[in-house]
Amino acid sequence: MADTLKTRVPVVAADRGTPPKGLLETFEENVGLWVDLLHEGRYDEESDTERLIWKSLETLVRVAGVAGCSITLTDWNQELLVHSNGAGPERHTYNRDTMAASGTLGMAAMRSGKAEHVLSIAHDPMHRYPEAVRKNGYQSVACIPLGARGRVLGVLSFYQDSTWHLSPSETDLVCALAQSTGLSIDNSLLLSESRRNCLSTVQALVRSLEARDSVTSYHSLRVTQYATVLGEQIGLSRRDMRTLQFGAMLHDIGKIGIVSEILNKNGKLTPDEYDTVREHPVIGARIVETVDFLQDSVPIIRHHHECIDGTGYPDHLKGNEIPLLARIVTVPDVYDALCSERPYRGPIDPKVAIRMIREGAGTQFDPEIARLFISIHEAGGVKAPTSNSPIV
Ligand SMILES: [Fe+2]
Repeated sequence: MADTLKTRVPVVAADRGTPPKGLLETFEENVGLWVDLLHEGRYDEESDTERLIWKSLETLVRVAGVAGCSITLTDWNQELLVHSNGAGPERHTYNRDTMAASGTLGMAAMRSGKAEHVLSIAHDPMHRYPEAVRKNGYQSVACIPLGARGRVLGVLSFYQDSTWHLSPSETDLVCALAQSTGLSIDNSLLLSESRRNCLSTVQALVRSLEARDSVTSYHSLRVTQYATVLGEQIGLSRRDMRTLQFGAMLHDIGKIGIVSEILNKNGKLTPDEYDTVREHPVIGARIVETVDFLQDSVPIIRHHHECIDGTGYPDHLKGNEIPLLARIVTVPDVYDALCSERPYRGPIDPKVAIRMIREGAGTQFDPEIARLFISIHEAGGVKAPTSNSPIV
């Protein structure tokens, strides 16, 4: 358990140029923004919790017509606040004991599960406020717990720069806003958890292959990291990046179906043995196509040994018939294999391997991707990861 609490308490401030209106009136005028935010919080491959929280803060300030707004998330398992929203103007570090004793209004709201409201911050000796609150001259605060699925996720705080009397209807509205915000954040956190579970599944598959095939140990990891750099340079969407990374990690998973006498043979393969090894893309695609979240990565696994001129395998696809993500994986796959030691040869010098990639551009490799790989390599942007490098 961490011994300090690091929580950023960003406060999104409103434009002070216009006189404040009633909360209900402001919300009515800006309800469209709120609807847009609800769409943002839906289950979405592109969604990101930090971005969602930041967008929520910006929207909440406008739809509630308040002077400022902050969100802090908590992890009750550790009984520490461990997360807050994205880039904010301030970062606060609390010692665990100090935090427990501080009795902040937000903490009180989280513990009671009810909205807490202070009309005048200046005359509230019981509570501590972040520097951003004092600096912005806020006078009043309302803290509402963020809840979802029967648990408290954190607290949403609204700040006003005048004495702020909330009517019962307005209190209901801020609580509804907090509830909706909590549900959106919870959905996003669930999606992140689901992604972590998917990644664990893929890592387990890769480890099971590496346990059988000592030669290609860490090869999948290195290919994934090279492919990630290529994918970023090409400008793939987040969804395609995940597909690429899973496909790269699992591109050789079919070798799990090759007998270990061939897979770990200490010498050059016979033509028949080589034919057996060449079955691994098809075997791998068959293994992975049974896993729902890996469907999009199947073509990478099946086609990572195709060549642009149609001389590859297993389907002898040509040019753009080969899926783009498979064409991306092919280049670092060959490069890393060349630079790795094999039972029948030592590692090839990276400079020689790069020359071979250049020579294969347009026949074995997509020329654009080969060129990009070489330029990234020459710029020092593709470094061979160590065995301790984190998997994407
Ligand atoms: Fe392969």
